[in-house]
Amino acid sequence: MPSLFTLLLIGCFASSLAEVTCPDGFTLINGRKCVQMAVGQGPHDFIAQECKSIGARLVTIKNQEDNDAISDFAKKSDCYTYWIGVSCFSLNGNTTCYNDDYSGPIIYNNWAPNHPRKLTDKYKFSLSVYAESGWNFALPWKTVDGSSIAYQGICEVPTTFADPSCKYNYNGYCYIPSHEIPGVTTNSTTYPKAQAICRSLNANMVSIHSKLENDYIKSIYKDSGVSQITLGAQAFQPHVFNWVDGSSFDYSYRDPFDTFTGNCLQMYTIRGLWEEINCQVFNYFLCQKKIGDKSENVRLDESKTNLVVPSDLSDSSGCNNAIVLAPGTVTSFGYGTSPLPVVDCLWRVAALGGDQVSIYFTEMEIGDWLFVELKPNVPVRRYNGTMTGFHYVAPGSTAMIVHSSDSDANMKGFKGVIMPY
Ligand SMILES: *[C@@H]1O[C@H](CO)[C@@H](O)[C@H](O)[C@H]1NC(C)=O
Ligand SMILES: *[C@@H]1O[C@H](CO)[C@@H](O)[C@H](O)[C@H]1NC(C)=O
Ligand SMILES: *[C@@H]1O[C@H](CO)[C@@H](O)[C@H](O)[C@H]1NC(C)=O
Repeated sequence: MPSLFTLLLIGCFASSLAEVTCPDGFTLINGRKCVQMAVGQGPHDFIAQECKSIGARLVTIKNQEDNDAISDFAKKSDCYTYWIGVSCFSLNGNTTCYNDDYSGPIIYNNWAPNHPRKLTDKYKFSLSVYAESGWNFALPWKTVDGSSIAYQGICEVPTTFADPSCKYNYNGYCYIPSHEIPGVTTNSTTYPKAQAICRSLNANMVSIHSKLENDYIKSIYKDSGVSQITLGAQAFQPHVFNWVDGSSFDYSYRDPFDTFTGNCLQMYTIRGLWEEINCQVFNYFLCQKKIGDKSENVRLDESKTNLVVPSDLSDSSGCNNAIVLAPGTVTSFGYGTSPLPVVDCLWRVAALGGDQVSIYFTEMEIGDWLFVELKPNVPVRRYNGTMTGFHYVAPGSTAMIVHSSDSDANMKGFKGVIMPY
């Protein structure tokens, strides 16, 4: 058995050897960003979704040096106009812009004069951002209706450490799907056996800490034929989970409609949503192993993005006055009070970075119809008084919920969970 000293020595040696690098196909910029040109050009959401399909995201730019280096990278790739990972929303003539990696409102910017633009249309409140590279320097950013024009785009993944033996190398971790473990014939098994197999590889069953990581895992399983995997989580109280690798349970992508009680969690690899299962269920699984000693693995704080601060708010529902960003919750005006006040309301919901916005109606007790709309007065979905358990996935990153509460007086109202997809 090696002494603690030997182990420490090996640990230090390994981490000093670990070299910051990018996954195959990505270029390292300024030693801290991994970028790749998206193939072709298209409207903003098309290019953003192309980045997502390879587990990446449109590039976020958080300082001048990175802005210059990315402009330079674009120019070398013969790209002069490109979408970047900033999403803007405009409410009553005020525009707020967010980083698409869910790290919150942008701090650094490089806006052209009169940008970001301001919008006053209730239904068109989102703006996409593009940058241009000039001959010698980066040109300023501009906002535009992202569906109206086709540009190129630059995709980004987090940096990682070199490990030639690792096929799925992301953000300092190696991901090993059960059906690709060499020499292991049980590609599907119970939670305890799955964790024992991962441990034998010096790994744990996977823990997930951000939407970006969840999307990356979806991309691993894209063409695999595997539709469900057990995650490395166990309940210590009903519906309350810990990750088996000891990391904090700081992110959740659970199906808002899940009513099952089980001590394990599984992920559906198509939608990416998690739900509870019995730990004895046979399932595919995913092992995850730390590479090197990347202590600063990006842990994204999605709680920062919940609400665009509403102006003149007379009710926490944000009726007519707010944009609710996914992940978040929309409730009807006066929800929880009785009798419910009579109001005509429009709620705007949105997701970042080409994520489609989805609405899960977990409660509904209303006297008249509720409409989901993308254009004024053209409902794409209608829900009446008693319908629950319905959800709507918008084709793009924004949608509107419209409801008049004139017949709701003695009812409960509704609640919608807003998820990014
Ligand atoms: C825009 O936001 C600023 C700061 O939050 C606020 O002072 C101002 O009144 C807002 N303008 C409008 C038109 O809502
Ligand atoms: C899992 O193993 C079974 C039995 O060996 C095999 O038929 C199946 O194709 C494997 N699944 C995947 C996704 O490789
Ligand atoms: C609500 O919709 C359901 C399903 O379409 C229908 O069966 C029911 O009669 C409707 N109720 C009202 C009050 O319109």
